[in-house]
Amino acid sequence: MNYKSYIAERLKIEGLTKEEVADAIEVPPDLTMGDYALPCFRFAKIFRKPPALIAETLKAEYKTDEVITSAVAVNGYLNFRVNKIGLIKETLSRIAEEGERYGSSDEGKGKTIVIDYSSINIAKPFHIGHLSTTVIGGALYRIFKYLGYNTVGINHLGDYGTQFGKLIYAYKAWGNREEVEKGGIKELTRLYVKYHKEAETHPEADDKAREYFRLIENGDEECVGLFSWFKELTLKDVNKIYDELGIKFDSYAGESFYNDKMQPVIDELEEKGLLKTSDGAKIVDLEEYGMPPCLILRSDGASLYATRDLAAACYRKAHYDFYKCLYVVAYQQNLHFRQIFKVLELMGKPWAKDLVHVAYGMVSLLDENGNQVAMSTREGKVVLLEDVLAKCREKALEIIENKNPDLENKEETARMVGNGAVVFAALSNSKIKDIAFSYDKILNFDGETGPYCQYTAARIKSVLRKGGEPKKYEIGAVTDEEYALISCLAEFPETVRQAAEKLEPFYITRYAINLSSLFNKFYMGCRIIGEEENVMNFRLDVCKSALRTLGNALSLLGIKVPEKM
Ligand code: ARG
Repeated sequence: MNYKSYIAERLKIEGLTKEEVADAIEVPPDLTMGDYALPCFRFAKIFRKPPALIAETLKAEYKTDEVITSAVAVNGYLNFRVNKIGLIKETLSRIAEEGERYGSSDEGKGKTIVIDYSSINIAKPFHIGHLSTTVIGGALYRIFKYLGYNTVGINHLGDYGTQFGKLIYAYKAWGNREEVEKGGIKELTRLYVKYHKEAETHPEADDKAREYFRLIENGDEECVGLFSWFKELTLKDVNKIYDELGIKFDSYAGESFYNDKMQPVIDELEEKGLLKTSDGAKIVDLEEYGMPPCLILRSDGASLYATRDLAAACYRKAHYDFYKCLYVVAYQQNLHFRQIFKVLELMGKPWAKDLVHVAYGMVSLLDENGNQVAMSTREGKVVLLEDVLAKCREKALEIIENKNPDLENKEETARMVGNGAVVFAALSNSKIKDIAFSYDKILNFDGETGPYCQYTAARIKSVLRKGGEPKKYEIGAVTDEEYALISCLAEFPETVRQAAEKLEPFYITRYAINLSSLFNKFYMGCRIIGEEENVMNFRLDVCKSALRTLGNALSLLGIKVPEKM
């Protein structure tokens, strides 16, 4: 049972839907006033009445029952008490029944959500700048699937552009098959950086590079062969990281996939009178909407990033008939997405409103002294994601060696903890905030981190190993710690729904932290093993339910739970 919607159903507020009322209901930080509260401040403007009076009026109309036993108006809040035993029974039995489906729903049945994420560039290093899109997209993918949506994950590869001509130039000039095969992206980056040094003094290299790129486009066997090989090598390298992080895609249709799909879109723009010529280039004028023009074709006839995105959006609508299409891309591309969404709207595509740019902030790494580690792709100075992950696993192993030297599968556990720490850190804030992380902070077992949640889960597993399967029990008196923990468990389905609605996986990380901390308070305050039989079995059931819920939350984030830590 969801108490917020239970209350919302019985609270009639003019002009607000049931969902809006449910969203307005909060769990107060201090449970002494009530188990749920409706703050009436935000309604004051709508009803032109003081919040306290609104709360009073709503209270007078609200009928309590055996589930919601009281409704009290205090200082502009309407506070509700639920029947604790009812909530506890309901929650624990629901978790037992639904198991790994607890928190899921079928609200998305029959709807398709396309998620464009990670979308790496071929032959470019996979640096920490790609961490957010990869893990935010991965989490949204799992969350929507969990809510019954048909999800399509697309890695919109950056595999088009003159840089591939440059790479062919560099490979032919200084490359060697074995070195490239062995070094993968690292060697390709070295060649690319060398090319830019060369082009500074030999600008004619750019002409040659452009020529190679044209050859790729025209299907020249040698150039296409090299290009495909670079692509294969890049994917082989990044797939190691995707495997490590549990990231999956249903399609790798990248920019070059749209080579033969742009012309119809350009024709349509022309037909609808949207194309203008400006300095020989073809543009869509967006001045009226306060934006610079969207460039469709350069004066030499070459298409652009935006042209391919227009074709991609049309293709996705035709191919997947999406309900929503999400683009998990850094906020630096805000303008680009506003432009292409507007162009599609001007083309009369009713589904343009279903395209969503899920923007996120920058990620940077801090060194031991708290200074930001600088990056520059052109100079080849980047923080590689694979190095960050490797370092985290190594540090996790050190911590484990220290804390628990006798642990079996130390390596395996360190892997889960190190990877989990990075993923959790990247999902720890509202996605639009810039994040700067340091190894010590994200690996802190007592902080608001992935390892803290994993440690809590491992602790619960150990209690359950000692205590065994809970047997039948009657619920007697309930402590505050027990109740706070169980009402948090009851909130999980609602949290998942909100994370999806707001496109914020961080609702789930925050939830996992909160659940872990409430579990630890319960664990400190309530003896489990050795307690009287009835109480022990109840508490074991609470442990089991907490583990299940925490496990479900972490798996939505792509984080594994070790047996022991
Ligand atoms: N490859 C691009 C980049 O690294 C991101 C592509 C995002 N997806 C898209 N459909 N434009 O900046």
